Amino acid sequence: MTTARRSDRHEEPSAPDPSFTIRPIAPFDSLSDITDLLHRAYAPLRQQGLHYVASNQDEATTRRRIARGECYVVECDRRVVGTVTFRTARETRGCEWYDRAGVASFEQLAVEPPLQGRGIGGALVDIVEQKARATGAVEISLDTSEKAESLIAWYFRRGYRFVQWVRWEVVNYRSVVLSKDVRGDSGVV
Ligand SMILES: CC(C)(COP(=O)(O)OP(=O)(O)OC[C@H]1O[C@@H](n2cnc3c(N)ncnc32)[C@H](O)[C@@H]1OP(=O)(O)O)[C@@H](O)C(=O)NCCC(=O)NCCS
Repeated sequence: MTTARRSDRHEEPSAPDPSFTIRPIAPFDSLSDITDLLHRAYAPLRQQGLHYVASNQDEATTRRRIARGECYVVECDRRVVGTVTFRTARETRGCEWYDRAGVASFEQLAVEPPLQGRGIGGALVDIVEQKARATGAVEISLDTSEKAESLIAWYFRRGYRFVQWVRWEVVNYRSVVLSKDVRGDSGVV
């Protein structure tokens, strides 16, 4: 279990930061609530015309996507306000980059909209990067719409780089696959 606060690299916070706890998903967590959270978080992207699967997937799809990896949730005031699902390199498949050995990935990253911009999303990404390193991966990757420019810029600021384009049949946009070498932070050469 990880208790996290806004990262030190964020300067001049504009509001008091909530305390939040990141933990693995538990049997008592409601997949219906998590699905609704995904819908709320991805709604602005959908309003831009980008039909991310998470923006309107049903509960069974949430369950299936979580079952393909390791899901973490963020709890704040006993409510789930964020989530991410990590996949080991073994579980990461589907495009040329994902099929490479040593490439882990994550998906279904979301933070409750009113709590965005306070470091929660960054803390979730930190967790999956740590998981990638701990499970022996060389890289951690994700894919997102090529049109989600501010999101892509956010990942770039976190050390991700473009590795390939991919056209998934289930979405209405071309995706970029972004990746980060996770060995750099470990101090191990
Ligand atoms: C992407 C997402 C998970 C980030 O979560 P978050 O809790 O806002 O993340 P952080 O607070 O760590 O970082 C937000 C960044 O936006 C900046 N920001 C500034 N004002 C902001 C605001 N009002 N709202 C949101 N972000 C703001 C922050 O400074 C920060 O940038 P930095 O890390 O370079 O300083 C969240 O925006 C989200 O759920 N988006 C919708 C779903 C989505 O896009 N998922 C990823 C698909 S690939």
